[in-house]
Amino acid sequence: MQAKKIAAALVAGFTALALSACGNGIAGGGSGSGGGAKTTFRLAFNQTEKHPQYKAAEELGKKLEKATDGRYSIEVFANETLGSQNEVVQNVSDGTVDMMYIAGPVLESFNKDFIVFNLPYMFDSPEAQAKVFADDAVMGGLKTSLEDSKKITVLGALHAGTRNVYNAKHAIKSPADMANLKIRVQQSDSQVQMIKDMGGVASPMGQGEVYTALQSGVLDGAENNETVFNALKHDEVAKYYSYTRHLMIPDYLVMSTTVLKGMPEADRKALLELVPGAVDQANTGLLQYAADSKKASQETGAKFNDDVDVAAFKAATSGLVKASINTPVRQALCDAVQKANAKA
Ligand code: GCU
Repeated sequence: MQAKKIAAALVAGFTALALSACGNGIAGGGSGSGGGAKTTFRLAFNQTEKHPQYKAAEELGKKLEKATDGRYSIEVFANETLGSQNEVVQNVSDGTVDMMYIAGPVLESFNKDFIVFNLPYMFDSPEAQAKVFADDAVMGGLKTSLEDSKKITVLGALHAGTRNVYNAKHAIKSPADMANLKIRVQQSDSQVQMIKDMGGVASPMGQGEVYTALQSGVLDGAENNETVFNALKHDEVAKYYSYTRHLMIPDYLVMSTTVLKGMPEADRKALLELVPGAVDQANTGLLQYAADSKKASQETGAKFNDDVDVAAFKAATSGLVKASINTPVRQALCDAVQKANAKA
């Protein structure tokens, strides 16, 4: 972590230098209009270069460069080099980082309506989820909801795998097997409540700290998709992976509103038009990456258990879902999901 913090501080230092050199006062970009100036957006990512979201962002950068005659491109900083999602989102808000991928629960504290897509057993399938996220009549309000308060614009919502519980002790078949297990969750109230309802002890923390906490026994387990389980080597220290299938939480591609609005209109339009293609690429890639990750974890000796009483976990968490859908806006989002579930 120390090395990461130093790297983040260095990057921040370079940013400050670059800014004073540009002298445009708009952090991280937005000055692409005149004099052939070239702006490279910095996109923060908390996973590895192998992840399809990394590849999609790289591709997006190349296409953006072409579409804007070289005025804009994207550099992706993987592996939390710019900081954890909780830290970096503040930098996107103040415009010192241009873009990032961020998990839904982190946005809950800015606008509680984001909770709907972070609730257990909300989406039946990646297809249903993609249908909802592609519909701007459903998503438009959420996407712009942080612009005034946080200066953050949501560009797109992505499939981020199906999350399951894993731990160092035993396979999980029913909520009773979760008793006394300290399970890492993402940092939000909904995630803490969810693990409590599933029968475990919730421990919220950033993704980068999980491996060490598992290794030292501070945590017994965590919950995530197969890609994180393998890529971050959690499979070495918590080898029982059980298909609770309790969450399909989206990641969002977000951008500093100040930087986005500082782009010339045609360039901004070009960027916005390229986003759905990047989302599709990342979503398709993730399904294959999850399957490959499972195989790789099995080879290291991890045990996958699909004998899980999913209905019991669903019943145990239904109170959280009901209590969270408590405004007309959240109800409308939930209705849209149910409609997509029925059709997909
Ligand atoms: C997923 C998700 C990340 C998130 C991570 C986590 O892998 O794609 O955005 O940070 O889970 O659990 O923290």
